[in-house]
Amino acid sequence: MEPRRILLAISGGIAAYKAPELVRTLRRAGHEVRCMLTPEAERFVSGLSLQAVSGESVRRDLFDAGEEGEIDHIGLADWAELVVVAPATANLLAKMAHGLADDLVTAVLLATRAPILVAPAMNVNMWSHPATQANLEILRARGISRIGPDAGELACGWEGLGRMSDPAVIAEAAANQLVPSSLAGPRVLVTAGGTAEPIDAVRSVTNRSSGKMGFAIAAEAAHRGAQVTLVAGITGLPTPHGVDRIDVSTALQMRDAVLASFDDSTIVVKAAAVADFRPVNTSDRKIKKEQMAEGESMTLELVQNPDILQEISAKKGERTVVGFAAESHEVVAAAQRKLARKGCDLIVANDISRTDAGFEVDENAVLFVWPNGEVEELPLLPKAGVAAQLFDRIEKLREGR
Ligand code: CTP
Repeated sequence: MEPRRILLAISGGIAAYKAPELVRTLRRAGHEVRCMLTPEAERFVSGLSLQAVSGESVRRDLFDAGEEGEIDHIGLADWAELVVVAPATANLLAKMAHGLADDLVTAVLLATRAPILVAPAMNVNMWSHPATQANLEILRARGISRIGPDAGELACGWEGLGRMSDPAVIAEAAANQLVPSSLAGPRVLVTAGGTAEPIDAVRSVTNRSSGKMGFAIAAEAAHRGAQVTLVAGITGLPTPHGVDRIDVSTALQMRDAVLASFDDSTIVVKAAAVADFRPVNTSDRKIKKEQMAEGESMTLELVQNPDILQEISAKKGERTVVGFAAESHEVVAAAQRKLARKGCDLIVANDISRTDAGFEVDENAVLFVWPNGEVEELPLLPKAGVAAQLFDRIEKLREGR
């Protein structure tokens, strides 16, 4: 594996004594390692030993002019390609979950855009406490990875879950996080979720898209080192780690946001379910039914929205543009026609008549439809798996150019 820059954050638990061993394991694998300590961590491990094993000065203080002069805390956050928090105490996990930044370690964790891996260590009852578990859930939803804790005899005398994983196991988990930065450089623009076209102050024309597929694509692109802009329609999903998000609600707003980011993008993936039509007239008040008799009909006049995918494909130049196709019948033929009409590089086609894949669920079964007529059918996969397969294809396509 190519050498990478790993920042090790050490918080104040007894397991901090294993930190020098972790530094040595990571360095043996060829990586550059820098360490930072919380004030409490210094009670369990000496900065001097960490400096000796890492070959770098150790950072502890947010406001120490001498330390900041060498590399400031934002510089440190930007330097890291991966941050490993080991041990991660219950207190540190709580601070991370709630965005506190009251010392060097928490400030860097808030400022970094690198992926984060936590290795928790604490008493078994602190681990199983609903507060800790809720914090872990927040961190998980934010895309932060975790290794351990293991079960066993704990330093506090209790038995159970709470032991920090062995340094060798943490180093292996870190290596898994450090996938080759194959997309470092390109800017990836992703659209996700449905749009909602207002009828009046409370009603809209929308669709059932959850945004999960597009969010998985944005997360995968960020994971591969790309700078990612995610234009999100109607969805309640949390922003994947390291992704810039722009929220929109209508198709016209989505078009504006896409066009604003398009020039700087090298890869565009349009996973959004854009509403094809919007009401011609929109009332900013609620339309009342008082004047109408029961059973009386009402006509809603709709006008077609601009096709964003078609518009950007026409001027894509060297960019790679991927579209999606939601089809209920004759999936391949319909996707092939869509590909030809819109002029993109690849269509990811969904059969929306399936109930186990596609809208709202966590898995998807897709077909990759290529301009040369080739069709690749993927098995049912988690949406993250579909996203990984998609970027493998996009990277190959760009290499071949
Ligand atoms: N799309 C778009 N702008 C629109 C409509 C769709 O950019 N106004 C994009 C979607 O983001 C998707 C692709 O076009 O990448 C195909 O969307 P889909 O809803 O499957 O097809 P439509 O173009 O809407 O065609 P139809 O409704 O006839 O299937």
